[in-house]
Amino acid sequence: MSAVIVSNLRKVFGPIVAVDGVSFEVQEGSIFGFLGPNGAGKTTTINILCTLLKPTSGEAFICGYNCLREPEEVRRCIGIVFQDMTLDKDLTAYENLLYHAMLYNVDRRKRRQRVDEALRFVGLYDRRDDLVKRFSGGMKRRLEVARAVVHQPKVLFLDEPTLGLDPQSRTNLWEFIRRLPEEQGVTVFMTTHYMEEAEVCDRIAIIDRGRIIAEGSPEELKKTVGGDLLYLKTRDNLQAAERLSTGLGLQATLRGDEVMVEVPRGETCLPDVIRLLGDDVISVRLQRPTLNDVFLKLTGKKIREETPDEKDTFKEAVRAYRRRFDRT
Ligand SMILES: Nc1ncnc2c1ncn2[C@@H]1O[C@H](COP(=O)(O)OP(=O)(O)OP(=O)(O)O)[C@@H](O)[C@H]1O
Ligand SMILES: [Mg+2]
Repeated sequence: MSAVIVSNLRKVFGPIVAVDGVSFEVQEGSIFGFLGPNGAGKTTTINILCTLLKPTSGEAFICGYNCLREPEEVRRCIGIVFQDMTLDKDLTAYENLLYHAMLYNVDRRKRRQRVDEALRFVGLYDRRDDLVKRFSGGMKRRLEVARAVVHQPKVLFLDEPTLGLDPQSRTNLWEFIRRLPEEQGVTVFMTTHYMEEAEVCDRIAIIDRGRIIAEGSPEELKKTVGGDLLYLKTRDNLQAAERLSTGLGLQATLRGDEVMVEVPRGETCLPDVIRLLGDDVISVRLQRPTLNDVFLKLTGKKIREETPDEKDTFKEAVRAYRRRFDRT
């Protein structure tokens, strides 16, 4: 069953075509990743699906309800973690969630239990009575995830959940997101422009300039780039390259002090290579294509340059300012 169906969706802001005829489906109980660079149209798509924005044309359904004609029903099915923080910083973690549970008409008798469960799920139960303004960025994000699942939505939308977090907090948050379908019974729709994070998704759609340019599982997408690369250090690289070519029919080239071999599947080829070269092998490393390579191949550009772009820098600056302001 599809929890989300999007058909030929288009959104135009004056001269800007933000979403340009996008279609996809999200299977119930899966994690779907919407990947793309800044300005690709990710947030605009999410806003249409969450009934916050009307499409120019096309249709979208959540749990069978039409986003345009049945917004009330759609809203009852969904939870949202917005790109920008929306917690009330002057309330405690517990109060933020309880307030949300009331807004969403969670049964009065089950409210406190649901809030406790959600806080436990993200590991913040012990900090439930602390004011949110005392929380770190990672804790706030986790609290937002907890709040978004308090009313037990069927579909959870996460817009750039890890933006602005340090690598450790990002990994930490990912552990919770990964467990959402099984433990909270939700279908997850998330956007990110950190390609490596999308590895946990069951399916991915890559969006660029309002259009979907590729779709599939992370494995399927990576296969489109080419095979794995084996790098070998041997006692005699030139001789090893020749033996690999005559013995196994592999194309081997010398790269620095290593022999590089492109193979369809590294894990099945490796034993043959070791058997052939035996004790001559000093070390082996296996390099697999990443989703970054997929994006690079499809668009000729990196999804995320090494230095954050201007928009990110600005967002970081605003967050840093808010954090400082919060403490005073
Ligand atoms: N309300 C609006 N009015 C005019 N243009 C808009 C509006 N909202 C979005 N846009 C434009 O639509 C395009 C897509 O924006 P969107 O926010 O959907 O991108 P995104 O993929 O979420 O980017 P990011 O990774 O930076 O969050 C951009 O060119 C943006 O400037
Ligand atoms: Mg966005």
